[in-house]
Amino acid sequence: MTEEPVNVNEFRELARQALPKMYYDFYTGGAEDQYTLKENEEAFRRIIIQPRILRNVRSIDLSTTVLGYNISMPVMIAPTSLQKLANPEGEIATARAASACNTIMVLSTSSTYSLEEVAACCDAIRFFQLYVYKRRDISAKLVQRAENNGYKAIVLTVDSPRLGRREADVKNKLVVPPLKNLEGLLPTKFVSDEKGSGLAALASGTLDASFCWEDITWLKSITNLPILIKGVLTREDAIKALEVGVDGMIVSNHGGRQLDYSPATISVLEEVVDAVRGKVPVLVDGGIRRGTDIFKAMALGAQAVLVGRAVVYGLAAKGEKGVNRVLEMLKEELELTMALSGCCSVKEISRSHVRTKHDQQL
Ligand code: FNR
Repeated sequence: MTEEPVNVNEFRELARQALPKMYYDFYTGGAEDQYTLKENEEAFRRIIIQPRILRNVRSIDLSTTVLGYNISMPVMIAPTSLQKLANPEGEIATARAASACNTIMVLSTSSTYSLEEVAACCDAIRFFQLYVYKRRDISAKLVQRAENNGYKAIVLTVDSPRLGRREADVKNKLVVPPLKNLEGLLPTKFVSDEKGSGLAALASGTLDASFCWEDITWLKSITNLPILIKGVLTREDAIKALEVGVDGMIVSNHGGRQLDYSPATISVLEEVVDAVRGKVPVLVDGGIRRGTDIFKAMALGAQAVLVGRAVVYGLAAKGEKGVNRVLEMLKEELELTMALSGCCSVKEISRSHVRTKHDQQL
């Protein structure tokens, strides 16, 4: 492809051309049969937009707030690990693009630049994604470092007591580069494994599968930062999360990389939003490739969305400029969708703007 990409899917193709197969497979792949991976995108296609006509849409305002932080659009950057495999500037490039687009970046625990390096590179609003390790003290240290370095929230990933089985990584014997946040903290023998996926080896040796609801109290006791939990997929867990006092939740299935045959996130968003009743913000990620996808998520009650692979494709194809372009594309597409649907601000996007399979056919 020689022309400039015009949408996220074309960025994906550029990423495919730019990356060694092992890395491209790592970024695109999902768990086992990849049912959930595909459904994340397919479920968006089954939702129809119901536009309203003859509204004055000359000026469209996409800005919003998340946990009190102003952002230019309801699109944030999801935590994705190992970004140096996409581009040598990795998470630094992503953070700079987040800053240029005035949005929030969530940095993964498993980043290839340290959280201190990312904090120092620009003034992007940053949240820190946390995995909880068997060595609880390591997670506690990470939280403290995030707090000391100006990260504004902890995003606790709760869908990964163990790593999902990503068969492409097993076949390719994925080699994990140094995880900068964990240097000197985790034994190096987990950093690569000749027998299969290096990430699987790392996860099985280190993640704390016993972490449960009661332990959120521990997390709250070691930080003053707001805590969002990432990986809620049911009404029951949304209610439980409110009970333990989280400050927000992310409807997520880890981009189809953890439990295969878990539901597409957009198909359960409304159930979670209804259970939460506006008490805390509900965000969603998974399968977002278009402005229309973002519009649909907003109509079903999300405060904002997060994008994972779209950002990585931009990074792999064109570094910082690529991430910037992907974010701008999503913004332009959302703005056009809003104009064509009769919405001048994100607040005006309402449930009546979409029709799902649960709605009566008109
Ligand atoms: C992820 N995701 C993820 N989530 C997390 O909490 N910590 C992490 O380190 C990672 N790493 C990671 C790597 C890669 C390559 C991908 C694709 C995803 C999941 C991520 O935050 C998000 O939930 C999904 O990527 C959203 O789906 P889309 O936008 O990729 O379809």
